[in-house]
Formats: sequence, structure tokens, C-alpha cells
Amino acid sequence: MAVGLDLTRLNRLLTTSRIGRSLQYLDETASTNDDARRALAEGASAGHTIVADAQTAGRGSRGRVWASPAGTDLYVSIIDRLQVALPDLPPLTLAVGLAVAETADELLRAAHTTEITSQVKWPNDVLLAGRKCAGVLVETSVGHAATEGVIIGIGLNVNREQFPPELTATATSLRLARSTHLELDRTQALATLLKRVEARVDQFVAHGAAAIVPELEARLAYLGQRVRCNQDSGVLRGVGPSGALLLETPQGLRSCFVGPIELDN
Ligand code: BTN
Repeated sequence: MAVGLDLTRLNRLLTTSRIGRSLQYLDETASTNDDARRALAEGASAGHTIVADAQTAGRGSRGRVWASPAGTDLYVSIIDRLQVALPDLPPLTLAVGLAVAETADELLRAAHTTEITSQVKWPNDVLLAGRKCAGVLVETSVGHAATEGVIIGIGLNVNREQFPPELTATATSLRLARSTHLELDRTQALATLLKRVEARVDQFVAHGAAAIVPELEARLAYLGQRVRCNQDSGVLRGVGPSGALLLETPQGLRSCFVGPIELDN
């Protein structure tokens, strides 16, 4: 039987100072990112978080659909108000991706699954054993000098056991990563996620993208492998201080600023 979200328990488990302290839970919605955009326009406070059990029009990056069935996973949108200039904002996705990867590891370790370490597939995917278990979709609302509002959308496959045929080879969930395939506690998963995201967002705002690069590179998918990013193909050598992907190509070291990337065999 699917274990639902227990909001009273979530309040007890929550260790954040702002994210999730104001929280709206919906049984079903079109897209929590759309709800968050409306809430932002209506003046929602920094850290206000919208969580849905199911989405009927969940959105992924590049206009893709984020399938969002009920009862299994986490669909979360966090509103934040960050004093970060718009050109400096794209690596926020990496900071959040790192936080989601850390969440996956923390939950799996707590569930005695120690043999898998999650990876960040630049720029917005989190992988377990090479399969995608989470995605990040950051959207903005821009003011004059600095970024006014940010919407941090996260889809984390916690307990899903089945995917549409086109995703079965490439998608996974925390539950499927456990050798026992036993269900995880979604309420604990949400509390851990919000804690990890707040910590990395605060670090990013205080110290910039360069501060997260070492830990990001330690769990960067495809490091040392040949990948394709837009027109470039080369060996993935790391992430630069501004969050760009670094590819070693026959023409020298190239920076890639916009995803996606794919293995180039
Ligand atoms: C991606 O990997 O392409 C990003 C997926 C982001 C999905 C989340 S689920 C919560 C929030 N609401 C949405 O409609 N999308 C994001």
C-alpha cells in the first residue's frame, strides 16, 4: 500500500529555516511550477513550497512532459527570492541537482543501500546506476537589477515501480535502487530534500557557483567519457567555476553552457 505524505510529521521532521515553513499540499494539480508562479505573483514569501501528490501537466525541461502519477513520488516547487543577478543564475540548477543527489544518497544509506552513489548529469538530471531518478526545472521571474523570484521545481522518483515503455530503459526510482525494492518513507524523503536544497541554495547565494564545483565534479556523470553537447563533441573534463561544462575537443578545451548532453560513443 502506498504511504502518503503526513504533513504533521513533516513539520516535526523539518529542519529548514525558510524552505517548506510555509507549504501548500495538493492532491492533484496541473503543474506545481505553474502554481508557484501564480503564488509568486501574489506575493508568496521566500521558501513557500508547493507539493502535489499528482500532476496532470507536469513539465520537464525543453518542453518535455514530466509524468506524475499519484501515490508514489515527490513533485515539489519551491519559491525563493534570491539576490542573484540573472546572468549568474543558471548554475542554481546545478546546486539544486547536487542537493537532490545528496538527498538520494542520504535516503538510500538510511535504507541500508550503500552500494549506489547518485550522480548529477549536467545540467539538471540526477542518476542512480546510470538511470534518471530526478530532474530539476528552475524558472525565474525577473525584476530590475537582481532576480526577484525563483521557482525551483523538483521531480524525485521515490517509490515508482513502473514507467511508460519509452522510459523503462532509462528511468528509475529510489525504491527500485534498493535490492529489497521496499517502499521508502515519502514524508522523510521530502524533509530531507528540503533540508538539502536549502543548504545548497544558501551556499550558492553566499559563495557562487565555484563553491559547489568540487562536490559536483565528485559525482558528475560521464566524467572522462566522450559526450556531445550541442555542436561540440569531446571528453568531459569537469565543470568550470561558472558552472559551464568543460569538454576537451581536438580544438582545445571548450565550455558548454546549455544542455542537454548525451554520451557520444
Ligand atoms: C527535467 O528533468 O526535465 C525536469 C523535471 C522537473 C519536474 C518537476 S515536478 C515538480 C515541478 N512541476 C513541474 O511541472 N515540473 C517540476
